[in-house]
Parts: sequence; structure tokens; C-alpha cells
Amino acid sequence: MAEFTLPKNSVVQEGKTYLAAEGVTNVQEVHVYRWDPDTGENPRVDIYNIDLDTCGPMVLDAIIKIKDEIDPTLTFRRSCREGICGSCSMNINGRNTLACTKDIGEIDGPIKIYPLPHLPVVKDIVPDLTHFYAQYTSIKPWIQSTTPPPPDRERLQSKEDRAQLDGLYECILCACCSTSCPSYWWNGDRYLGPAILLQAYRWLADSRDENAGERLDELEDPFKLYRCHTIMNCTETCPKGLNPAKAIAEIKKLLVERKIA
Ligand code: SF4
Ligand code: SF4
Ligand code: FES
Repeated sequence: MAEFTLPKNSVVQEGKTYLAAEGVTNVQEVHVYRWDPDTGENPRVDIYNIDLDTCGPMVLDAIIKIKDEIDPTLTFRRSCREGICGSCSMNINGRNTLACTKDIGEIDGPIKIYPLPHLPVVKDIVPDLTHFYAQYTSIKPWIQSTTPPPPDRERLQSKEDRAQLDGLYECILCACCSTSCPSYWWNGDRYLGPAILLQAYRWLADSRDENAGERLDELEDPFKLYRCHTIMNCTETCPKGLNPAKAIAEIKKLLVERKIA
């Protein structure tokens, strides 16, 4: 059997346990991955026992409660608290999702919280999304058009054209899909991954955009696009119910259609 030697500082250690206050009866155990780059220490998992009777219903409420009442050093990202900004994406009990829309009631036993997988960690459960955003920039996520807009109003779309963006415009770039994709884990330096490819298709599908040819040229690459092997983890995990795998298939279809046209 193959044996791997992991670097010493990659081993996740047992952390501190914070017991519930005396008299609390409705206790929820929450395990949280902790890592502070400034200490030089290994990552650890801390266990917090919180009072569910005084906690909001979502996993993000539990995290906020821990920071407010038990451990102010816990670092995490969040903004909207309603599944719109994409900031609070993390791995909860083995699944990438948004902490603010994940109901504590759906989880049996301890809540186990880790950062999104296969990304460098900034601190605790905050992943470094610099490369992800650079990939997003690379697809030029804005309308490119040589036709000037009408002088007195915005560029209009028919209802049918606008409907082509359904299932695409809702993407909040939370990165849950890309960080659940094995192809992105292994080739994320060059493979764009499901989130960015769904966004790339969002602009290809926009009737107001006039740069489809160049956009497809950019995507026609063995790594940027064709590392998708239709494993479907992306669609399975998307907390907004979107289907990035289908968007990727649509891009491949456009490339084939262009070849045989
Ligand atoms: S497709 Fe879904 S999982 Fe992927 S970035 Fe967009 S909202 Fe997040
Ligand atoms: S369908 Fe493609 S993008 Fe989605 S998880 Fe699988 S390989 Fe990754
Ligand atoms: S806090 Fe904005 S999506 Fe969760």
C-alpha cells in the first residue's frame, strides 16, 4: 500500500473544548477548524458547546454566537446573512454550502465546520479566493459590444432572450461548486472550474453581448474547459440550486456547433 508522508504542520490536531454554561439543557456541539498563520502552530479543531435555545436557526447564527459569546478570536466571512453575497461558503458536515442558509435542524449530531476544500487558508475558516477571482476576471464578465447603446435608454432584451439567463444570473460566486470538483482540486491552476465556466456561459448566452467568437476562442483549451469530466459534484452541491455542469456542456456544444457550421 502506498504511504504518504505529510508535512508535520499539515496534521490537524485536537483543539480546545468549550463546555456549555451551567444550567444549559439544549446543547449543540460545534466543531470548528482553526488555524492562525501568525502562531506557526498546526491547525486544530476546537469544540464549542452552545445553547441552542438562545441561538438563531442557521449554522451562521451558531458561528456568530460563538464569536460573540465564547471565542472572539474565531475568524470567518459573512455579509448578507441571506444567501445573496456568497461570503459565508464553507464545508459543513462534509458538504460545501452557505452557513447562512444551512439549517442547524437538518444536522444530526455535532456540526463540523471546515474551510472550503483545496484552497489555501487565510485564517480559520476563511479561504484565499485570490486565484478564483483572477480566473473570474479572465473571462471578462461584462457585456462586450461594438454596437453603441441607444442614446436614451438601456439595451433591451426580449422576454425570451432574458429567459436564457435564468439559472445563470443567480450565481453568487460562492465557489462551493469549484471547490467540490475533483478536476478543479488537481488542475485548479489552469482549469477554470464550474463556477467560472457557468459565468463564462452567462455572457455567451446574453443576447446583448457581441463577442461570443473571442470568448469561445479563449475557452477552447484543453485545461481551461476540457478538464470537466462530468463528475457532477458541482451541480450536486450548489446552494442556489444551479447546474454548472449543464452550463459547461452548453459551452462544449457551442464549440462543436461552431466547428461544423
Ligand atoms: S454555481 Fe452555485 S455553487 Fe457555484 S459559485 Fe455559483 S452559486 Fe456558488
Ligand atoms: S461536472 Fe465538471 S465541473 Fe462539475 S464537478 Fe464534475 S468535473 Fe467538476
Ligand atoms: S452571508 Fe451572504 S451568502 Fe451567507
